[in-house]
Amino acid sequence: MDRPKALLDVLHGRRQAHPPVWMMRQAGRYLPEYRELRARAGSFLKLCFTPEFAAEVTLQPIRRFGFDAAIIFSDILVVPYALGQDLTFVEGEGPRLSPPMSAANLDRLSGEIDRERIAPIYETIRRSRAGLADEVTLLGFCGAPWTVATYMVAGEGTSDQAPARLMAYREPDAFQRLIDVLVDASIEYLAGQFAAGVDAVQIFDTWAGNLAPEEFLRWCVAPTQRIVAGLRARVPGAPVIGFPRGAGTNLARYVHDVPGNAVGLDWTVDLAYARDAIQPHRPVQGNLDPLALLAGGDALDRGVDAILGALANAPFIFNLGHGILPGTPIAHVERMLARVRG
Ligand code: CP3
Repeated sequence: MDRPKALLDVLHGRRQAHPPVWMMRQAGRYLPEYRELRARAGSFLKLCFTPEFAAEVTLQPIRRFGFDAAIIFSDILVVPYALGQDLTFVEGEGPRLSPPMSAANLDRLSGEIDRERIAPIYETIRRSRAGLADEVTLLGFCGAPWTVATYMVAGEGTSDQAPARLMAYREPDAFQRLIDVLVDASIEYLAGQFAAGVDAVQIFDTWAGNLAPEEFLRWCVAPTQRIVAGLRARVPGAPVIGFPRGAGTNLARYVHDVPGNAVGLDWTVDLAYARDAIQPHRPVQGNLDPLALLAGGDALDRGVDAILGALANAPFIFNLGHGILPGTPIAHVERMLARVRG
C-alpha cells in the first residue's frame, strides 16, 4: 500500500507536525557525487538528456539527505529546445539559445513541442519514480512563460531582462504570440510529466520581480493562470506550486489570481506578511536566504528558526528562497535539516 506523502498533503492544505523539506537546485554542483557524474557525462546537457544519468542525479540528494521531495533533474530551457531553438551551455557562463527570438523570426519556432526531443525527460521521470520510496514526492517543473521568454529573446541570461521587456513594450502582439506558444507547450509538457509519474509540479518564474505591475499581470499572472487551468483540464486536480520570485508587492495579486496549491516565497518576503496575508489563502513554501545557508552558524540557525516560528503553524513546506549556491558546505545542509526536523 502507498504510504502518505507529507509534501502532497501540504499541497492539499493539510499542515504537517514537521514541515516537509526540499531545496531548489538540490541536485547540483555543491554535491561531490553530482560533480563526479557531471564530469563522466561530459556536459550538462548530456546529463539532462541521458535518463540513466538524470535519474541518478535526481536521486542523489534524496539518498544523502532524505528530503521529502525529489525534483526531476532537467532545465527550464528544454522547452525552447523542443520548440526548435538551438540550446547550448557555455562552460562557466550559462545557457545560449539561438537564434534569439524576435518579431521577425517567430515563425521559425514550431507551434508544438517536439516529442522526440522531450522523450528522455519522461523516461527520467519513470526511472526516478521507480527509485523512490512511496513517501517521497516526485516533482516535475517548467519555467513560467515570462522567464523562459527572457532567455529566448536575449539568447542568454541577462541581469535586467531588458531584451524581453523591450520587445513586450515595443511589439506586444508579437510578444503575446511567443507567450501563447509557451503556454500551450508548457501545458503539454507538464501533462506529459504527470503521465510519466510526477506527483506535483513547480512553475519557476525566476524573473517575475523585474516586471512593472501592469506587465506583471499580463506576462506573469495571466499566462500562469492559463497553464494551471489548461493542465487541470488534462490532469484533473493536478497539484501546482507557483514560484514568482521577487514579486514583492505583486505577490498578493498572484496568489489571488493563480489557483495553485502553494506559492513559493523568495527570502525577501517578510515573514509576518507571509503568515498574515498569504498563508490564510494558500500553503506557502520557502524561504531561507541561500546565502544564510552558505554562511552557516548563527545566521543559518536564526534564519531557520524565524521561518519555522512564523510559518510552521499552518500548511507549510520548508525550502530556500532560491536555488542552493554551488559553494554551500554539505554540513550546513545537514544542520539546516536537523533544525527543521527538530
Ligand atoms: O532544482 C533542481 O535540482 C532541478 C534541476 C534544475 C536545474 N535548473 C538544473 C541546473 C531546475 C529546476 C532548473 C531551473 C532553471 N534553469 C531556472 C529556474 C530556476 C532558477 O534557479 O532560477 C533557470 C532560470 C534555468 C536556466 C539555467 N540553467 C541557467 C541560467 C543556468 C546557468 C547558471 C547556473 O546556475 O549554472 C543553468 C544551468 C543549470 N541548471 C545547472 C543545474 C544543476 C548547472 C549546470 C552545471 O552543472 O554546470
